[in-house]
Amino acid sequence: MSRFDSLRSQLEACGQSHVSCHIDQLGTDAAEALMRRIESLPLAELPSLIQQFVLTPPACTGGDLQPAQCVSVDSRRVCESVSLVDESSLRLRGESMLVEGKVAAFTVAGGQGTRLGWAGPKGTFPASAVTGKPLFRLFAEQIMAAQQKWGRTIRWYILTSEINDAQTRAFFLDNRCFGLDRRQIMMFPQGVMPAFDMKTGQILFESQGELAMSPNGHGGSFAALLSSGAIDQMEGRGVEAISYFQVDNPLAPVLDPVFLGLHADESLSSGEFTSKMVSKTDPAEKVGVFGSMNGRLGVVEYSDLSTEQAQSVDDSGRLRFAAGNVAMHIMSTDFARRVATAGQDDLPWHRAVKKVSCIDPKTGDRHVPDEPNAIKVERFVFDAMGIATQPAILEVSRSAEFAPIKNATGPDSAESSKQMQSDLYGSWLEQAGVSVPRRDDGGVDGAIEISPLTAMSASDLEHVELPSELTRSGNFTC
Ligand code: UD1
Repeated sequence: MSRFDSLRSQLEACGQSHVSCHIDQLGTDAAEALMRRIESLPLAELPSLIQQFVLTPPACTGGDLQPAQCVSVDSRRVCESVSLVDESSLRLRGESMLVEGKVAAFTVAGGQGTRLGWAGPKGTFPASAVTGKPLFRLFAEQIMAAQQKWGRTIRWYILTSEINDAQTRAFFLDNRCFGLDRRQIMMFPQGVMPAFDMKTGQILFESQGELAMSPNGHGGSFAALLSSGAIDQMEGRGVEAISYFQVDNPLAPVLDPVFLGLHADESLSSGEFTSKMVSKTDPAEKVGVFGSMNGRLGVVEYSDLSTEQAQSVDDSGRLRFAAGNVAMHIMSTDFARRVATAGQDDLPWHRAVKKVSCIDPKTGDRHVPDEPNAIKVERFVFDAMGIATQPAILEVSRSAEFAPIKNATGPDSAESSKQMQSDLYGSWLEQAGVSVPRRDDGGVDGAIEISPLTAMSASDLEHVELPSELTRSGNFTC
């Protein structure tokens, strides 16, 4: 049987014969590209995937949710679901991992960033409050500062996708890798999945000969880490822990010794998958929450949490489901390998209802939908918590670590993030004795930026020459 005939019968068997029926009308290169694309699809898996996740509306996932048990190093945060752990011992443990070169940084940057309305890869977005440094530069500066502090080269792995891989590589080269050694950075694209017609489950065509594809979710990290050779490379270099964070948060600490120490502490964690959370104070905040369902820890997206669950409070008046996911995790290389090889099928697909402009492959007519017409499917990295034996969750300070840029305006926008960055750096300056002007609402009046190369925390400012006060509504950077 020819390669084409074999593909045609596989497509027929999974109910997608329309995908191959016009291949013979394409030029040689386009036909070859389409065949390669078809060969990359999980064809055998499609019928059940489509039945379960495309054609069937999702059951409410938050049903029997219980609050997740978390830990904190701050006694003020202790409550029914948060217990106290000793900061200094965790820090020592994490610092020794850094000194021994056992940790790598991992940024997930394969998403499309449609909400932000930024044409390039999200990591190229100008994010800092005064000089507008792009997100990638801010992380690179943290890595450089950490290298100086711990005396080790820190390897940086970046998950891209076919929509932004070439642009991301070009951005790093144009910027001379922001001063890092090119050989310490490895980028690799994640997998993609087709968009399906929401009524029929048929794979949609973006244009003649091209399927409508999109990244397969950050849960695709595991497969991509393995297939790119990143896990092999990490293990070959003695890396045991992968510090995972999203590209959209300029305040994400790339390497946090306390978090690493928690991950490594056998009494608190199985050392497989460890996460950070911040306390939600607003029930309507659009973050996923950690919780346990049928005894398995996971994250329930805000859209799956009922209003009743989102608003329910404990005896002290604190939100019951307060553990907001800030998308910072540490996973061991062993665990990542295990999920990528054996556990991948345990990560469920999640469906997203979308408007996807597509063509009818028979006629070539384009359909630009006014209403959602398609389902995209993604896997989520945090579903791996359910596979880990004893995942630990650390509560951290929102103002110090979480100022994401997701939207063009309003909450989680560049503007709100820059204010939060200025507020954090303003508080560092105040601790160093500088008088910082504030508005009536308590926010810093002005824009403040402190490079990670100058200070990674307030105490690093001790030896920095600083003014005694800042001008109202002015800019300050150091
Ligand atoms: C995400 C989390 C949410 C959390 C919030 C914190 C999910 C489903 N939800 O929401 O629980 O509270 O962040 O900020 O993740 N990405 C890829 N490849 C993909 C898809 C996404 O690399 O295929 C990356 C994006 O580049 C981005 C990050 O993952 O850095 C977040 O993805 P996004 O879909 O924007 O999730 P949020 O809705 O922001």
